Amino acid sequence: MAMIAFKCPDIEVVVVDISVARINAWNSDRLPIFEPGLEDVVKGCRGRNLFFSYDVEKHVAAADIVFVSVNTPTKTRGLGAGKAADLTYWESAARMIADVSKSDKIVVEKSTVPVKTAEAIEKILTHNNKGINFQILSNPEFLAEGTAIEDLAKPDRVLIGGRETPEGQKAIEALKAVYAHWVPEENIITMNLWSAELSKLAANAILAQRISSINAMSALCEATGADVSEVAYAVGKDSRIGPKFLNASVGFGGSCFQKDILNLVYICECNGLTEVANYWKQVVQINDYQKSRFVKRVVSSMFNTVSGKKIAILGFAFKKDTGDTRETAAIDVCHGLLGDNAKISIYDPQVTADQIMRDLAMNKFDWDHPQHLQPMSPTAAKKVDVVWDAYEATKNAHGVCILTEWDEFKKLDYKKVYDGMQKPAFIFDGRNVINVEELRKIGFIVYSVGKPLDPWVKDLPAAPPS
Ligand code: UDX
Repeated sequence: MAMIAFKCPDIEVVVVDISVARINAWNSDRLPIFEPGLEDVVKGCRGRNLFFSYDVEKHVAAADIVFVSVNTPTKTRGLGAGKAADLTYWESAARMIADVSKSDKIVVEKSTVPVKTAEAIEKILTHNNKGINFQILSNPEFLAEGTAIEDLAKPDRVLIGGRETPEGQKAIEALKAVYAHWVPEENIITMNLWSAELSKLAANAILAQRISSINAMSALCEATGADVSEVAYAVGKDSRIGPKFLNASVGFGGSCFQKDILNLVYICECNGLTEVANYWKQVVQINDYQKSRFVKRVVSSMFNTVSGKKIAILGFAFKKDTGDTRETAAIDVCHGLLGDNAKISIYDPQVTADQIMRDLAMNKFDWDHPQHLQPMSPTAAKKVDVVWDAYEATKNAHGVCILTEWDEFKKLDYKKVYDGMQKPAFIFDGRNVINVEELRKIGFIVYSVGKPLDPWVKDLPAAPPS
């Protein structure tokens, strides 16, 4: 919305939220999220044609176009628990729009939703319409965190789905005109509602599938002595495949991939497509396998026990250049190590101690609900320490795990890290950011995902008997 306001000075944009604290933060000097370049965009138009308000109903009533970007968590109970999207927040937003509207409106689905959500929303709106005309559009967002501003300024495509009626087409044109302020027309794609909704789930599923494919290869590389980076390079040189999204890692995270695939799986199951559902389920299963494989490597390398040992965790965000921790692989890795009684010391340049403690205490899928609805499980907080410096985290540690590819982890003084650690000093790189040879020369025992194994690690079973 900030980008729309920035690029379209003739359009007034009001971002509304029921959370007063969040709106206050958007109106302050400290924005509530860290995203490179966002501050300049917000400051460039806040107070001009971009406003943040908690007077939700007033601004919705006054709007011509309403973008709905409420959360769509994975259901944790009832039918479809663990897979289906919980549309509670979407439904209440739609009812509120119907209640307060006094003029015709275009309602745009921005949240990623299951296919056919627009149809349900349309029903809620039209059954409460008091003679008002609502047009529903699907306009899924493809930006990635950390590069959001670039992605928004120069999107590969903008996708708009709408009804194939004259009113539907008119609504599509109205939204197209907004994006046409800065996006070339040929990059604005229009289609029917269901295709647009499914395209978003399909894009995320296929991106995640690439990562699970290379991660599956990383296990085979370790078993055979091949180097996954070399394999990825060779594969990516094929112009039909391309080089992006082939970095082996400790596992993908983020608010979208797992949730959207589980959603896709559920939709396939509901349509009786068991084989298709199983195919996509496997993408998530390989991701879980990759995370537990990493923990097993750590434990088995360190004499089959990390009990009472200090392990430094470098990086907690789900990727670099964001403070976002939703579904980050670090949560599962930390749980795995804590389950084996390790003492962990965490450093991330952008994630607060408070957030880390909350993440480690939260039940699966609860992050997508408002904070007051997040039931906490008992936490091993006593064994977790969050520090503000990588050297502090690694001091006296037996092992170091790199879980986010922050640039600063490439430039650490690893001799200093080594000197401060217990010996033998272990380093487990879940992001392939370190120079394995150099670190071995310093004296570290090194494991790097998908790379030829250190003799120390090689002689141990990849997975100790559980
Ligand atoms: C993703 C999609 O890219 C975006 O189009 C969609 O709108 C939202 O979901 P995001 O979750 O912000 O964006 O980040 P992305 O860059 O896709 O990374 C997702 C996860 O995959 C991260 O944990 C990242 O570290 C991991 N990843 C990515 C890999 O492990 N290897 C890769 O090669 C690429």
